[in-house]
Amino acid sequence: PLDNHVKIVEVGPRDGLQNEKAVIPLATKIDLIERLATTGLSTIEAGSFVSPKWVPQMNNSSEILQHLLERQIPSPGVQPLTFSFLTPNIKGFSTASAILAQHPDSFSTSPSESNDNIKPALEIAVFAAATESFSQKNLNCSIADSLRQFAPVIQAAKESLSAPLRVRAYISVVLGCPFEGYSSETPHRVAEIAASLLEMGADEIALGDTTGLGTAPRTRELLKCLQSAGIRSEDLSMHFHDTYGQALVNTAVALEHGIRTFDSSVGGLGGCPYSPGATGNVSTENMVYFLESIGMETGVDLDALADVGAWITEQVGKPNESAVGKAVIGA
Ligand code: HMG
Ligand code: MG
Repeated sequence: PLDNHVKIVEVGPRDGLQNEKAVIPLATKIDLIERLATTGLSTIEAGSFVSPKWVPQMNNSSEILQHLLERQIPSPGVQPLTFSFLTPNIKGFSTASAILAQHPDSFSTSPSESNDNIKPALEIAVFAAATESFSQKNLNCSIADSLRQFAPVIQAAKESLSAPLRVRAYISVVLGCPFEGYSSETPHRVAEIAASLLEMGADEIALGDTTGLGTAPRTRELLKCLQSAGIRSEDLSMHFHDTYGQALVNTAVALEHGIRTFDSSVGGLGGCPYSPGATGNVSTENMVYFLESIGMETGVDLDALADVGAWITEQVGKPNESAVGKAVIGA
């Protein structure tokens, strides 16, 4: 990929919706994913296979995955769309892989392996945390136990289907934890966890600023530390929540460190259920506008995206949190 090409991972259908209290109809979720798929986005996080007692809103992720495999949404780009699902344990992975096994010819496992633009590529994601408190709150176990739990998931993703599935591994609270704060030790802890996850076979580490506590100096310190630990920028992606409005500043710092993959959520939807007070991800509209303004290519049609942001925020009864989205549609 060219140095000015940026991959955006749209996490709205998962991170954006998981925290909504009112039940969002399955049809609305599917409509959202299909609308996003027409905007030029290449990767969409579409659901998560987690305990419905913990995150009830994601309970129909099976139906979503099934629908995406059966519906065969044409990709507007040259590469097929990638759909991503969270699977933090073997139970979640088994549910997802049973659906994949029923549709063996309906997906590819890598965007570059597909020779048509109809079969989606699929990937899964596991999620660790940089602090013990957050790990307990989000996964009900220690960091070490979570890594032990991910190892067989990653192994199964690589070995149990006809071809290896791509695996993302999140690390949450890398720039500050709502329970433990931030210290100069944090980047070293993140580097250790990232190295373990890569060692297990993860293809990408998504660095989560779960509560938006990240600042430019912290982002720089973290990325320098990861670089010194031998972790390559092409294996990293940044996942900024925008609670303090610093996400794009931190994005600029990450770009300077060679990172070219960024997560964002249409309309700025979202918040983590286990992170009190955290607001949504940086909005995809703001992200695309910023990146294009400095000469980066995202492949995303901003007008089409802004329409999706206006539509979904209205559907879920939330204000549109995207300044760019509102400006583009003239709201
Ligand atoms: P636990 O209670 O310790 O697990 O939860 P358990 O093994 O004792 O199981 C409890 C019940 O859950 C059992 O059901 C299991 O069958 C069921 P019961 O016997 O009581 O009827 N269960 C499941 N059901 C469906 N799918 C599964 C599954 N696993 C167990 N996969 C567990 C442990 C990991 C399950 C739980 O803590 C959990 O689901 N956590 C998920 C939390 C979550 O989804 N958080 C939000 C996503 S992460 C995030 O937003 C951060 C991110 O955006 C990055 C960032 O911003 O930093 C990614
Ligand atoms: Mg998040």
